[in-house]
Amino acid sequence: MNIVSDITELRQQINEWRKQGLKIAFVPTMGNLHAGHISLVAEAHKHADRIVASIFVNPMQFGANEDIGNYPRTMEDDKQKLVNAKTDLLFTPTPEIIYPKGLDKQTYVEVPNVSDGYCGESRPGHFRGVSTIVCKLFNLVQPDIACFGLKDYQQVQVIQTMVEDLSLPIEIIPVATMREESGLAMSSRNNYLSTDEKNVAAHLHKALSWLAEQLLINKDYNALTETAIKTINAAGMRADYIHICHARTLNPATIDDTEIVILAAAHCGKARLIDNIQVNL
Ligand code: PAF
Repeated sequence: MNIVSDITELRQQINEWRKQGLKIAFVPTMGNLHAGHISLVAEAHKHADRIVASIFVNPMQFGANEDIGNYPRTMEDDKQKLVNAKTDLLFTPTPEIIYPKGLDKQTYVEVPNVSDGYCGESRPGHFRGVSTIVCKLFNLVQPDIACFGLKDYQQVQVIQTMVEDLSLPIEIIPVATMREESGLAMSSRNNYLSTDEKNVAAHLHKALSWLAEQLLINKDYNALTETAIKTINAAGMRADYIHICHARTLNPATIDDTEIVILAAAHCGKARLIDNIQVNL
């Protein structure tokens, strides 16, 4: 695996592959890789000849009250996992390379509507940071396809909308969430949890699965959501939100909608966890 931090070197390698007519897949990450990330690389292999991954803990998507300094960094481990997964090129830029003028003077990309509610409301500016870095990385790597995990469901919709609105010639491939045996969605944030807290956190997925089953027989979305929130809180978490939404627009679902996603976020110990479940009615 070739590892580059420099934009010129990255572009040279990409240009060579382009000249050879090779198809390029991209897996952007913030590092601290787990089986979920590796499943993105595995999916990428199904669609392309060369796989580019990036590791960049993007300061623009962290709020003022979120401690980016504490974000788990495991670069050597990550590199080994990417080598094992047969990644061809790893891009590891510094914040100075990505934002040479500083965050305040950086042009940004903001995707309206899908960025606004849910995590967009709880974490103001988060999706602006995500769409800006993903757009910039897309321009640097110029992939044919890019893989994103569905655990970050709202993020996938934001990126898909950005690609459509800006006519970026990139196919977005959403990849199913990898879960622990308990149902807990794999996440770098699970590293903040003790074993006991992990058991508590598993109740988030349980509550969503219950809600998904109920949707097949009960249309009282408000009552169902309230019950699920109570269950999560009773299990020892602090629910941030649970919303039943239209799967693509993320608007609150109407009783006529058939493509549904239930989005949820909850605090458990020091971690803020998110999860979701798609339901086809
Ligand atoms: O999902 C993530 O890890 C990040 O939000 C992403 C897409 C790599 C952008 O920094």
